[in-house]
Amino acid sequence: MDPWTALDARHARVADRAIATLFDDPGRAGDFSTTLRSDPLGEMLLDYSKTNIDAETRAALLDLARAQGLEARRDAMFAGQRINETEDRAVLHTALRDLDGSVTVDGQDVIPQVHRTLARMETFARDLRDGRIRGAAGRITDVVNIGIGGSDLGPAMAVQALAPYCDGPRCHFVSNVDGAHIHDTLKGLHPETTLVVVASKTFTTTETMTNARTARDWMMRGGDPARQFVALSSALDRTTAFGIDPGRVFPFEDWVGGRYSVWGPIGLSLMIAIGPERFRAFLAGAAAMDAHFREAPFSQNLPVLLALVGIWHAQICGYPTRAVLPYDQRLARLPAYLQQLEMESNGKHVAMDGDALIRDCGPIVWGEPGTNGQHAFMQLVHQGTRIVPCEFLLAARGHEPALTHHHRLLVANCLAQSEALMRGRSLAEARERLAGRFEGAELDRQAAHRVFPGNRPSTTLIYPQLTPETLGAIIALYEHRVFVEGTILRINSFDQWGVELGKELAAALVPVLEGKATDEGSDGSTRQLLAYLRSHGDLA
Ligand code: F6P
Repeated sequence: MDPWTALDARHARVADRAIATLFDDPGRAGDFSTTLRSDPLGEMLLDYSKTNIDAETRAALLDLARAQGLEARRDAMFAGQRINETEDRAVLHTALRDLDGSVTVDGQDVIPQVHRTLARMETFARDLRDGRIRGAAGRITDVVNIGIGGSDLGPAMAVQALAPYCDGPRCHFVSNVDGAHIHDTLKGLHPETTLVVVASKTFTTTETMTNARTARDWMMRGGDPARQFVALSSALDRTTAFGIDPGRVFPFEDWVGGRYSVWGPIGLSLMIAIGPERFRAFLAGAAAMDAHFREAPFSQNLPVLLALVGIWHAQICGYPTRAVLPYDQRLARLPAYLQQLEMESNGKHVAMDGDALIRDCGPIVWGEPGTNGQHAFMQLVHQGTRIVPCEFLLAARGHEPALTHHHRLLVANCLAQSEALMRGRSLAEARERLAGRFEGAELDRQAAHRVFPGNRPSTTLIYPQLTPETLGAIIALYEHRVFVEGTILRINSFDQWGVELGKELAAALVPVLEGKATDEGSDGSTRQLLAYLRSHGDLA
């Protein structure tokens, strides 16, 4: 039987089963968990036992992964083959952390170049942190990274995640073309002690180039743009045209996709914040996950299993979204980071061969840190009519030894959420709790509101502490999960044509807003909105 059909049949058989009953098997938790143990990381545990996946379903999911050629495609990616077929590019973000390896693209080993760029970044970061690279009026105290999408989300998320390790200049991130973003960021800074890092693979992205020009004008008021501007880009001709000294440009190759780029030059602001040694630890954590992904059998492979859980929920059970809930405040930007990683990668409607997908694309990803989400949207997750698979992330230890009582509460809440989602509360239980307060029809009515359907799946990823190594491993885990899901769905996870149309239409609307072109080609709604803006705004 075709593996998709086998999974549909399996789903039909188990859909009404209570997940909690699977724990009648005392070995359930251990059998439906997997660990990664490695030197830099310690032990990371993925528990997917609170899902409706049993041994037969897992076997069917593993069959599907094999049938879709996962092993060969994984090896092709690591070997530098051009698996990004619509852009005719290799996909080698893993080479940026494979520092002892060797990967050949177009007949050339790319690792020596990775080392050279990393060494240049390290020298620059050290010189800046130690005050040898200075601004117009002394030591650089602040770094402003200007970029968007993959040129912003990775370093911004990681700098926040690793706050306890940040001992360099303060890092700020400007992404939005909304002038409010750069205005509010630069407001408290001084041009003579600020470094501006223009992060853009293409060096054409409108938002970034607009913000970069605004920052340059600001820098002229006391700073020295020639010394205080740095570029991270693949487009050396454009960085030169912008006026950035080639000695201050950190290049990377087209085989590093934007949303996979935090490991190389796009990570410069992170390296400046935490220092080169810790940045290497961040790379080592990711490399440990890479080795695990390449070597562990699929049945014990964290990225593969996380992806198979995802496929089960999104493409077989038909749950359209998944929530990422880090019970780790410093991972507050992880959901946003994963939204780009997952949805820009697997939010496609055609397969690699150009045919329509035979199943839904990757799911809608959203989330917030716990416990905050509990006081906001978790109501719907517990009692709403739609099922939202949840992915909890939790550290065994915080970084605040004086506040372990906070951490205990955080942990208790995280574990309680996944337990409550699975277990639920029956009508009989609800009635029992209310007996004495209400009776008759009122008891029934009140009890109905207090029923939790339960049987709502979740996974928990638990790790010793959110260190640079751990963060590297977590990001790499999700990168590979996206790759596995994409491979199973036959999606090219490395292009992003869906962002283009909006960019083109925005470019066509700018002259309309400037009064240099008419709105003739626009639809009625857009024309109405333009008319409102003309009469109420300050556009032309
Ligand atoms: O518009 C989408 C996108 O191309 C992302 O894929 C990318 O991360 C982002 O824009 C920024 O691109 P760049 O680094 O070239 O400015």
